[in-house]
Amino acid sequence: MNYNLPDLNKAKFRSRYQAPIIRDPVKLTEKQRQLGRGLFYHVITYGCQANVRDGEVISGILEEMGYQPTEMLEKADIIILNTCAIRDNAEKRVLGEIGFLQNYKQRKKSLILGVCGCMAQEEVVVEKILKSHPTVQLIFGTHNLPEIPAMIEKIMETNKKSVSVYSMQGNIYEGLPSRRSLPHKASVSIMDGCDKFCTYCIVPYTRGQQRSRLMNDILEEVRDLKESGYKEILLLGQNVNAYGKELDGNGDFADLLEKTAQMGIERIRFMTSHPWDFTERMVDVIGTYSNIMPYIHLPLQSGNNEILKLMGRRYTRDQYKELYDKLVARIPEVSISTDIIVGFPNETEQQFLDTLDIVEYCKYDNAFSFIFSPRPGTPAARMEDATPLEEKKDRLLRLNERLDYYSKIQNQKWENRTVKVLVDGPSKNNPEIYSGYTPQQKLVNFVKKEAAVGDIIDVLITEAKKNSLNGIQL
Ligand code: 5AD
Ligand code: SF4
Repeated sequence: MNYNLPDLNKAKFRSRYQAPIIRDPVKLTEKQRQLGRGLFYHVITYGCQANVRDGEVISGILEEMGYQPTEMLEKADIIILNTCAIRDNAEKRVLGEIGFLQNYKQRKKSLILGVCGCMAQEEVVVEKILKSHPTVQLIFGTHNLPEIPAMIEKIMETNKKSVSVYSMQGNIYEGLPSRRSLPHKASVSIMDGCDKFCTYCIVPYTRGQQRSRLMNDILEEVRDLKESGYKEILLLGQNVNAYGKELDGNGDFADLLEKTAQMGIERIRFMTSHPWDFTERMVDVIGTYSNIMPYIHLPLQSGNNEILKLMGRRYTRDQYKELYDKLVARIPEVSISTDIIVGFPNETEQQFLDTLDIVEYCKYDNAFSFIFSPRPGTPAARMEDATPLEEKKDRLLRLNERLDYYSKIQNQKWENRTVKVLVDGPSKNNPEIYSGYTPQQKLVNFVKKEAAVGDIIDVLITEAKKNSLNGIQL
C-alpha cells in the first residue's frame, strides 16, 4: 500500500533554512467542491490552542468541500479526531475514543473516520491504528492539511485508506480556509513548530521545525479580524518569544506585539512564552500598551537547577525569578500562570522542594501541573528513573495544594473591585448567569443587566473562588 508514513527520526532533522511560504495551498477542483454536498462533518479536537486552531482550518476546508457542521455524531458522514500527543493519558483517551467511534461506523458504512494532529505524527501510533482500528480510513499529519480534499476524494472513489504524514521540516501556509469558532475572540497562529527540544517534549518532533509567518501576513490577518468585529486576538505559537528568529529583517516578537497593539484591536493575548527568549524589550512593550493584556503564561517546569538542565530548559531558578520580578515590576497588575512537571526522571525530594519554593515565591494566579510522562523518541524517555509512581503522585498532590492556595489568594485580591469583562455569553450551567474574562484572564460569572457576546462591560466582583470570580454587572 502506498502510504506516506511518519518518522520521528526524520522529524529530528533541523537545518538553518527558511521554510517556503505557500499561498492559497487549498485549490479545490469543481468535483471536490461538490463532494460534501448534503453531508455533515464533526471534528473532535484534543489538546492545545494550536490544535484548536488546526481544527478551525480543517472545518474550513471541509466546508469548502460542501460539508455542513453537525454536533450529532450519529448524523455525521465524516468524523475527524484531531489528537494530542503531549502525555500518555491524552493518547490513551484518543485511542479509547477511536474504539467508541467504531459503533457509528458499524451503523453507517459510508462514514469516514479520520485521525490527525500530533498523534498522527508518531509512527508507533499510526502503526497501532492501522493494525487495530481498520475502520479508520483517513490519517493525516500536522503538515498535511492542504491534502484533505484529495484524500477524501480518494477514499470516496476507492473505499480504501488514505494516509499522509510528512516528517520533514514543514512549510508555511498562507490563506488556508478557516471556520472560526467564536465571533469575538480569534487565534492568530504566528508560527508553527518548535526548536527548543526540551528533553521531555514531543512537540518539536510532531510539529516540526520552527516556522514563523511574515510579520506583514500576520498584521493583515489581524486587520481583517478587527474589521470583522473581533475584540480579542490570541497570538499563538509553541514559543512566541522566539518568533521571527529564523527570518532575516522581519522583526522579533517585541516588534510584532508593538505593531499589533498599534492597530488598536481591544485585546491582545499571546501564548506560550519560553522564559529563555523573553527580552527586556518584550517586557517593556507589554507594559506600555494598554491593549496588550497583562497576563503571561510562563512555564517553570521545575524549580531545581539540575533538573532544569536535564530538561534542557536553558535557564536557572534565579534567572526565572529575575524575569518574574521584572514582569511584576513593569506590567501593572500582571497575572502569571505556569506549567510544572513533577517526577522528571530521578527527581529527588529535595529537588521537588526547590519547585515548591518557587511556587511560594511566584504565588501563581493559575497553574497546570503534570506528572512526567515518557514520550517515545525523546531523550528523557531514555533516562533511567527509579522514583516510584506513588511518590510522584504524592508530589503532585502536595504541589496542587499550594497552587490552589495561591490561585484563591490571587483571586481574592479582586473582591469588591470593578473589572472589565469581555462577554462570552451565557454560562454553561445557568443561562441567567453570563460569563467572560478580565484582562488578567480571570473567568467571571456575573448577573447581567445588558450584555451581549463581545461587549466589554464593568462587573463588580462579589466573591472569589479558586478558579473563577463571581460578580454583578454595573
Ligand atoms: N510529561 C509531562 N508533562 C509534559 N509537558 C510537556 N511534555 C510533557 C511530558 N512528557 C507539559 C509541560 C508543557 C505543557 C504543555 O505540558 O509542562 O509546558
Ligand atoms: Fe516543548 Fe519546550 Fe518547545 Fe514548549 S518550548 S513546545 S516544552 S520543546
